[in-house]
Amino acid sequence: PKSTTLPSKEASSNGNPRDFVAKMKAGKKRLVIFYGSQTGTAEEYAIRIAKEAKSKFGLASLVCDPEEYDFENLDQIPEDCAAIFVMATYGEGEPTDNAVQLMQNLSDESFEFSQGQHRLDGLKYVVFGLGNRTYEHYNVISKQVDEHLTKMGATRIDYLEWKDGMWETFARIMNVEEGQGGDTATSPYLKSRIPSRREGELSARALTRSKGIHDAKNPYASPISVSRELFQNTQNRNCVHVELGIEGSGITYQHGDHVGVWPSNPDIEVERLLCALGLSEKRDTVIGIESLDPALAKVPFPVPTTYATVLRHYIDISAVAGRQILGVLAKYAPKPEAEAYLRNLNTRKEEYHAIVTEGCLKLGELLQLAAGNDINVVPTTQNTTAWNIPFDIIVSSITRLQPRYYSISSSPKLNPHSIHVTCVVLKYESAGSRISPRAIFGVGSNFLLNLNYAANGETAPLVSEGTEPATTLFPAYAIEGPRGAHHEGSVYKAPIHVRRSTFRLPTNPKSPIIMIGPGTGVAPFRGFVQERVALARRSIEKNGPDALNDWGNIYLFYGCRREDEDFLYKEEWPEYVKELQGKFTLRTAFSRQQPYKPDGGKIYVQDLIWESRAQVADAILNGKGYVYICGDAKNMSKSVEETLARILGEAKGGSAEVEGAAEIKLLKERSRLMLDVWS
Ligand code: 2AM
Repeated sequence: PKSTTLPSKEASSNGNPRDFVAKMKAGKKRLVIFYGSQTGTAEEYAIRIAKEAKSKFGLASLVCDPEEYDFENLDQIPEDCAAIFVMATYGEGEPTDNAVQLMQNLSDESFEFSQGQHRLDGLKYVVFGLGNRTYEHYNVISKQVDEHLTKMGATRIDYLEWKDGMWETFARIMNVEEGQGGDTATSPYLKSRIPSRREGELSARALTRSKGIHDAKNPYASPISVSRELFQNTQNRNCVHVELGIEGSGITYQHGDHVGVWPSNPDIEVERLLCALGLSEKRDTVIGIESLDPALAKVPFPVPTTYATVLRHYIDISAVAGRQILGVLAKYAPKPEAEAYLRNLNTRKEEYHAIVTEGCLKLGELLQLAAGNDINVVPTTQNTTAWNIPFDIIVSSITRLQPRYYSISSSPKLNPHSIHVTCVVLKYESAGSRISPRAIFGVGSNFLLNLNYAANGETAPLVSEGTEPATTLFPAYAIEGPRGAHHEGSVYKAPIHVRRSTFRLPTNPKSPIIMIGPGTGVAPFRGFVQERVALARRSIEKNGPDALNDWGNIYLFYGCRREDEDFLYKEEWPEYVKELQGKFTLRTAFSRQQPYKPDGGKIYVQDLIWESRAQVADAILNGKGYVYICGDAKNMSKSVEETLARILGEAKGGSAEVEGAAEIKLLKERSRLMLDVWS
């Protein structure tokens, strides 16, 4: 039966709200779980751990955003309690924004805990690291937390990259037994019907926070001032240039920063899930969601709200459906076959992989398939079977819709009132043999594509009418119509915030710079070059036409498929070359255009770098130059680094493996080789 527990009172409502130990004591929590989270994954993971600790051992947890607490009394956690750290690593080995203070307190040896020492003897802890193995700085933050805590005398229960097997050790050290949890609700939320005014989608986040400060918790609804397609002569491939207005917002940015764009889910997926949940007619009903235990989970969006708002703006219904939730949802199946279908996928990993993972099935589609509906037609109440799934279960089992981060492609010196984004639209076909191939669209990039259509008064072509062959790559999703949340008169808006980065030019223009950015990897370098153009204009104005004479060379290595198709900002580069008086050199590799390499292979940026090895070595070794790589982390950046090692090894009269590798290491340590890469 569903728990009807009322939300517990905020534990220390009369004490210091930043004192987590007081909250633990007041709420009888034996675990405190801190999460270092940028996009919400670590946070969701922390909540999952809390739920498991409760269901397995009956242990209550306090889940904490480290930004909201002070760490002086980390040495005051009672003996029968433990601290769990769930830490993500951001970018080039940095802590996530909300963990900056925590990391400082742990690493600073002059930081004193309440006993007057930088010691944590007796503290029991577990560290979970979340990271992506393709990144060089894989999991460094969780490793640092572990090192600091050990050094301060704390006792590690376990250090894990993933958590299998941890609970056994945990049970022993915490002196608890499995099976003490009893019956717990599957969802930490309670849906209530509150017939009151609701807040608007886009502004809702903003309304929850103070005005003027825009960050990951409070994005700014930025008007789109310019939006255009950058590719030419291509069908089915798009790259959008969007200029996001920031005038009067208080938002500032630097070249090399990232902008987080908060997308919304496409119409068709919202419609599909509304139909599958039997909520099509109730889409605009005002509802409330409460947390059963605010110490465990906060309601992840502003309430009151509506069903449609939650599905469109706040939860990631476009993601591939998770395996775990299928067992819970099976209980609410409209017929036995549908229940059996979900249970089969829930319990059989290979089946799940072959059907759901490979077929890229979203939850809505899976519910349709389980009930025997056709997923390749526009969903309606007639062709979609309604399931009776409580909405709080939907809210707790689907992850939150997260912002997508893009490297900013402008310089604030040339564009003080707008942030430019250069975004290639992600579109591919689902795989596998069990579900016939469908077009899959990246949520963030298609959102921008549709804003592009809308901002230019065009209508985005709708996905599938069921008449097209299933293999057709449909152009795009449609976004909400003219009265939608992202629309004000003829101005479209996107919620954004800026994420600072360390990817920056040297301040002194005498230092040579080498930028390598094929594809949309060129984005930050357009900003870098604009930055130098702005500086050149000022210098020439001040010091006359010879002002750039002692500047270092600026090299940009760029690659794309064909000059007449996907050559980004083709018409702008010659202007920049002119303004920088030849200090700026652009070299291009067109990979799918003749001539190829003598062996018939494609020409890539690393081939150009090798060709220019004399200048590259001179700029780095003699000019003390800076190197920047942006773009694909998996193949491109690795090949480019290898090529650089070869060049530097050779220039030093040695090998790529020894002298070259040593030079690369040195450059990285001195922040003269910087990466902004993604996978
Ligand atoms: P391709 O798609 O023709 O193979 C931007 O995507 C450019 O980067 C394209 O020209 C693409 O070429 C190229 N590219 C693909 N793989 C690469 C790699 N491993 N190293 C460098 N460039 C690559």
